[in-house]
Amino acid sequence: MKTYLVTGGAGFIGSNYIHYMFKKYKDIKIVNLDKLTYAGNPENLKEFENNENYVFIKEDICNAEAVNKIFQEYDIDRVVHFAAESHVDRSIKNPEIFVQTNVIGTTVLLNAARNAWEQEDGTYKEGKKFLHVSTDEVYGSLEEDGTFFYETTPYSPHSPYSASKASSDMLVKAYIDTYKFPANITNCSNNYGPYQFPEKLIPLIINNALNGKKIPVYGDGLNIRDWLYVEDHAKGIDMVQEKGRLGETYNIGGHNERRNIEIVKTILKLLYDVLPETDPRREHINENLIEYVEDRKGHDRRYAIAPDKIRKEVGWEPETDFETGIRKTIKWYLKNLDWMENITSGEYQNYYKEMYHL
Ligand code: NAD
Ligand code: DAU
Repeated sequence: MKTYLVTGGAGFIGSNYIHYMFKKYKDIKIVNLDKLTYAGNPENLKEFENNENYVFIKEDICNAEAVNKIFQEYDIDRVVHFAAESHVDRSIKNPEIFVQTNVIGTTVLLNAARNAWEQEDGTYKEGKKFLHVSTDEVYGSLEEDGTFFYETTPYSPHSPYSASKASSDMLVKAYIDTYKFPANITNCSNNYGPYQFPEKLIPLIINNALNGKKIPVYGDGLNIRDWLYVEDHAKGIDMVQEKGRLGETYNIGGHNERRNIEIVKTILKLLYDVLPETDPRREHINENLIEYVEDRKGHDRRYAIAPDKIRKEVGWEPETDFETGIRKTIKWYLKNLDWMENITSGEYQNYYKEMYHL
């Protein structure tokens, strides 16, 4: 039985990954190390509370003593490192915590894994692997000229968030080169799906539309993101860890570029269609909710991943097309209004007021 150390497993992608892994494998143990920041929510993993193969540890990845102890207590075979401060807008307002968690935290984790896995002759215990989950934002911004981000594209991060992720990627690469550390990096495009915190575009649109609130669209709304259903990302991470060449980086994306304004209009239409005719919320779900607001500082224009390497070497393909994925996502949020209510009733209100003045 393999033991996984998943960091940030109570967040959006981490929790979807844990659901995916327990569905796929019956014989794994998962230790979830999460600080439970505003973005971490144990509710996301409620169904595993009594699962004897699931362990939750509330801890900060920057706490070296605690992280080393976890490696002493458990014979960890796989690390899958999601824990991060992940929201660009928050990084623009408060960069320091991004450096702390994303850069220092990653280094603490790399050191702890190396301490536990490296043998006297400099080789590593059989079969141990570390996967660092990263983002396409490290590559910067593309023109609308049909070019893509490849694994060989030079790093050019613009926001404090992407700069901190780029730094963490560089540290992983340094450990691979210097210590022959057994790691992979994945750089994925924008994810969407269940359990995403409503500071991010898609759940924010759904939540605001259902509550008849304005939907803030930054700048001209024409920025392009490359959207991937979160379960396809989870599958890609697992496939890279099991089938990828150690030391390599793999981009993950499904060639699904959309302008922000298109995303907003699509969701408004689908929400309207999906609600019963008698539902009073239907009345206010229309394009009058759209409110163009001041642009994000340093707003990247376009992201687009070339997934050729992961397809060719690992055999990964996305399974969920956007129309199916976005319908599933909307249905999930409609079924889980309590989940949304719980996370938007507290600190989120202050964040929202300060951020949008709407
Ligand atoms: P998220 O903000 O939803 O979750 C982050 C999780 O990390 C939370 O559970 C939080 O409590 C935990 N965490 C934060 N700081 C911590 C610390 N110091 N110690 C321990 N735990 C801590 O983020 P997400 O959207 O799920 O992203 C997960 C990872 O995937 C990140 O590394 C992000 O850079 C990367 N990524 C995200 C996307 C995307 O579209 N969301 C795309 C590509 C890559
Ligand atoms: O590309 C991968 C990245 O995708 C991840 O690394 C990040 O962790 C994740 O947050 C996401 O970053 P983005 O900045 O692209 O996602 P966000 O949902 O914040 O914004 C998507 C686009 O929508 C972006 O162009 C900004 C715009 N936007 C966002 C919000 C929250 C709006 O127009 N209005 C909004 O209210």
